[in-house]
Amino acid sequence: TDKTDTEPFRPAFHFAPTEGWMNDPNGMVYHDGTYHLFYQAGADRRRWDHARSDDLCTWDERGCKVPDDGVQAFSGGAVVDSDDTAGFGPDSIVAMYSGHHDDEREDQRVAYSTDGGDTVSMYPDNPVIPSDEGDFRDPNPLWYEADDAWRMVVARVHPAPDRPRGIEIYESPNLTDWTYLDTYESGDQSWECPSLYELPVAGTDERRWVLTVSVEWDHVEHHVGRFDGESFVADRRVRADHGFDFYGAQTWSNAPEGPGLGLAWMSHWDYAKSLPTTEWTGAQSFPRELALTRTDDGVALRQSPAPALESLRGTTLATVSDESITPDHDPLAAEGVAGLTLELRATVDPGSARQVTLGVRDSADQRTEIVYDAPGERLAVDRSESGAFFHDDHTVAEGPLPLRADGTITLQVLVDRSSVEVFGNGGCYANTNLVFPDPASDGVSLSATGGEATLVSFEAVELSVD
Ligand code: FRU
Repeated sequence: TDKTDTEPFRPAFHFAPTEGWMNDPNGMVYHDGTYHLFYQAGADRRRWDHARSDDLCTWDERGCKVPDDGVQAFSGGAVVDSDDTAGFGPDSIVAMYSGHHDDEREDQRVAYSTDGGDTVSMYPDNPVIPSDEGDFRDPNPLWYEADDAWRMVVARVHPAPDRPRGIEIYESPNLTDWTYLDTYESGDQSWECPSLYELPVAGTDERRWVLTVSVEWDHVEHHVGRFDGESFVADRRVRADHGFDFYGAQTWSNAPEGPGLGLAWMSHWDYAKSLPTTEWTGAQSFPRELALTRTDDGVALRQSPAPALESLRGTTLATVSDESITPDHDPLAAEGVAGLTLELRATVDPGSARQVTLGVRDSADQRTEIVYDAPGERLAVDRSESGAFFHDDHTVAEGPLPLRADGTITLQVLVDRSSVEVFGNGGCYANTNLVFPDPASDGVSLSATGGEATLVSFEAVELSVD
């Protein structure tokens, strides 16, 4: 149902529950034509709620899953057990989650569904990894083809007496009997929500493993490296997203698009509980695809909105090419581009300008600014004037965006009723942030300071789920 009259911040093309709390995505698995998204629900006592989608744009909410077994059901992943290694039935969905006890202990548990996620049962011999320690959570299983067995990664968020801090790796023949193999250590950092998957390096016959982790209630990192079935070794670490609102990322196992399709909770623990929405709290990012490419300095990661975005594209509101952007000339001013749900694509040559600013959800007194700093080659999203709410420490989110060889940058921006996702230079950069503007703030603007820039090309398209 369309509730946008009474809920001005309700996302149009991002998943948010009809009511109640949501944090991390969980148990993301593609099964029999459907993308499943379980998620952390219940602000006071966590459980898994369930939504599913055929198109990654519209979601059907199925209610509470993972029955109450006396512990809170914290985050975890899921797989399809095609060969029935666990004995729950062929083609079962098998999920792992952490049992969070009242005394803070955390152990690892299994739940499964033999009817495509409609009903979920607990494995009777839970926990499958007992534990007397806290801060041991977020198990995420994967099939390891090289030896026809399962692996699982789980976060040791703080060191335990006999285990270092980091991501522990386990193996199992059947998803219920697990043997510890190794720890990929996190040094003095706290990591949670791990996922491990192998991606091809585009244009080569190489492959690399990616271990994605969420760092200290702050941001997501992709560690790109090698995995021999027992130990993971990183060649490089890449921040997934420079924004404030991209956390607890997870990928869909078994997806036809491949193992790089995922999303993240679009919020931040520092203010997640005080967002200005009433019926519900929390949304997921738009699904995005990770791909690896070979560059002169090694293997680089690209992230782009999932191809499902194409199905949302509606009317083209403006196309502009080769116009100058100066302190006095906004080439978009005559275009009258307006909307609460937009995709903007721009190629900009900063020329002699110091800063080039793309404003979205723009009006006389509100604006979310996407600012390119040419001398520093950095791109920032500034939401200090973006509307209702913000935590002073979390207004400007920025990161490096080097000019491309031809001296330009490219931007792809997804605007929804309470979020702005920015992708730079074909997915070398991402920056995701919540914003809560008045619905009347629906404009788009472009400006430059310190010189003249060129808008090489620009396109604005309306996005809708109709
Ligand atoms: C990350 C997290 C997870 C935990 C879950 C509890 O946002 O802290 O580590 O399983 O939230 O809801």
